[in-house]
Amino acid sequence: MGRSVYIVGNWKMYKTAHEATSYIEALLPKIEHCKENIYLAVPFTSIAPCAAFCKDSNLVIGAQNMSDAREGAFTGEIAGLMLKEAGAFFVILGHSERRHLFHETDAMIARKVVRALQDDIQPILCVGETLEERKQNRTEEVLRAQIEAVFSHVPKEDASRIVLAYEPVWAIGTGQQADEKTAAQAHAFCRSVLADLFGGKIASAISILYGGSVRPETAQFLLQEEEIDGVLVGGASLDPDSFARIIEVSQKN
Ligand code: PGA
Repeated sequence: MGRSVYIVGNWKMYKTAHEATSYIEALLPKIEHCKENIYLAVPFTSIAPCAAFCKDSNLVIGAQNMSDAREGAFTGEIAGLMLKEAGAFFVILGHSERRHLFHETDAMIARKVVRALQDDIQPILCVGETLEERKQNRTEEVLRAQIEAVFSHVPKEDASRIVLAYEPVWAIGTGQQADEKTAAQAHAFCRSVLADLFGGKIASAISILYGGSVRPETAQFLLQEEEIDGVLVGGASLDPDSFARIIEVSQKN
């Protein structure tokens, strides 16, 4: 079916620029032979030094958030064009920590995704239900609402420029990874929502990643699922050895 596979690390607010470049120096030789899309979302201050370091490599550097505005009087915000100039190729948007800790709404996330597309930065859009929503059997309703809120603002021809990441909130940073069947089921549902919006052909071209407590030991089971086109890795991406092991596993599938 030929969808692109992505292995994405998300460092969150960890590592200074100095620590970041030492990490990359350690990681690059381990992944030289890897063919999949290997992405790393680093803190803002590490984007330029990491991108410079990765220039002739297969490691792609990106950001973890951006403003929905092109520019303006928005103290403390950062624009997509600034990230792009610094060397960011992609940006994670709608991460559950942004939604829950920083109160980002679906409408705001939709504007950010549209802006990222305009600024030519590839958006990785995160969606996912909380534990309470899962217990109340509302997972599908929540996923549909989050996906529709963003993709309904995206022209058909741009839809497959977005990578979707299913990240159940209860699995993020908890060690409680969704098992691969549960994840695959959610992915299939997300794809059916995309098919309702854009038709089956476009929906089947959009990569859907799983995120939430992915570990080197579990990545292979997730990646064996037809519906799972890659992983978004937080904690386990902070160590170059464990991130390299996850990348290695993706080569064998
Ligand atoms: P985790 O984080 O792998 O530490 O659970 C995933 C994420 O936040 O994207």
